Amino acid sequence: MPPIYTVTLNPGLDRTLTVPALYENSVLRATSSKLDWGGKGFNVTRALQALGVESVALGLVGGFTGQMLTQGLADLGITTDFVQIPGETRTNTVIEESGSGRHLKVNEAGPTIDAAAIDALRARILAHLRPGSYWALCGSLPPGAPPSLYADLTTLIQSHGAFVCLDASGEALRLGLTATPFLVKPNAEEAAGVTGITISDAPSTRRATAALIDQGAEWVALSLGADGLLLTNGDQSIYARPPQVAVQTLVGVGDALLAGLLYALHHKLPLAGMARWGVAAGTAAAMTPGVGVGSVGEVRALVARVSLETAQG
Ligand SMILES: Nc1ncnc2c1ncn2[C@@H]1O[C@H](COP(=O)(O)OP(=O)(O)OP(=O)(O)O)[C@@H](O)[C@H]1O
Ligand SMILES: [Mg+2]
Repeated sequence: MPPIYTVTLNPGLDRTLTVPALYENSVLRATSSKLDWGGKGFNVTRALQALGVESVALGLVGGFTGQMLTQGLADLGITTDFVQIPGETRTNTVIEESGSGRHLKVNEAGPTIDAAAIDALRARILAHLRPGSYWALCGSLPPGAPPSLYADLTTLIQSHGAFVCLDASGEALRLGLTATPFLVKPNAEEAAGVTGITISDAPSTRRATAALIDQGAEWVALSLGADGLLLTNGDQSIYARPPQVAVQTLVGVGDALLAGLLYALHHKLPLAGMARWGVAAGTAAAMTPGVGVGSVGEVRALVARVSLETAQG
């Protein structure tokens, strides 16, 4: 069974500094500082690792920050195969005030990529491509990338008998759909962005997934936050709702949901199993502080607590 591949084109080092109080125009003293490896594809890879599914993280990294990221992921036992690009991988900084929830978040844009970087990435993807493998393309495109990049990579990957699961937004998603990806995983806002349909109730949710299938997706996993997921392939549709849980964080919950879907695809589970594992992994991530889904045992316990409902029409 081939591993699952994740592709992160605009990763970053996430630095979180905690200060007793946020003030302007003064020196703030951090009481703690935390580093993490940021990138939606990495979140998928880390969740897959917790679920016991082998994956390889591909992407573009540059400079010393890129080296730190590569080493940091290797220390977590994650297999990477990155393309080195000129420039410095971005650092995204959060300065949070202890206890109040007030914070500042500053994201860098990331290095501008050129045609040589894209050629190198295509070559790296080709070196791994095997029929039947699943590829998760996740997150924003880096500066300099053509908006059609996900569409181009989807065409490349799927022309070799592999399957693309696309988690993108805006123009990258709209164009990506034209390359008929195997699956897309928008949230309600992202789906509304490319379909023009505001998702407010069951009929508008169904219309949005139908529109995404019309636009080219084979499967749509429309994630609905605390309301779970509508999963459809046009013929069969199912709602999956999580149990009520104590939410610790919503960072990376959508990425964990995608990992749950990939787990189910890897194990050839039918529609209901996909829906259950997707929602259970997303909800496990919501219950787990920091980035992560906890253990496969915790996700499995949630799988049994997800409620399913066949969607009509
Ligand atoms: N409040 C919640 N309670 C329980 N589960 C939740 C909650 N919010 C999100 N989830 C779980 O996470 C999944 C994905 O949530 P959501 O639709 O918010 O993803 P997203 O917006 O793509 O997130 P991300 O910020 O990671 O991209 C949901 O389908 C659900 O399983
Ligand atoms: Mg998301």
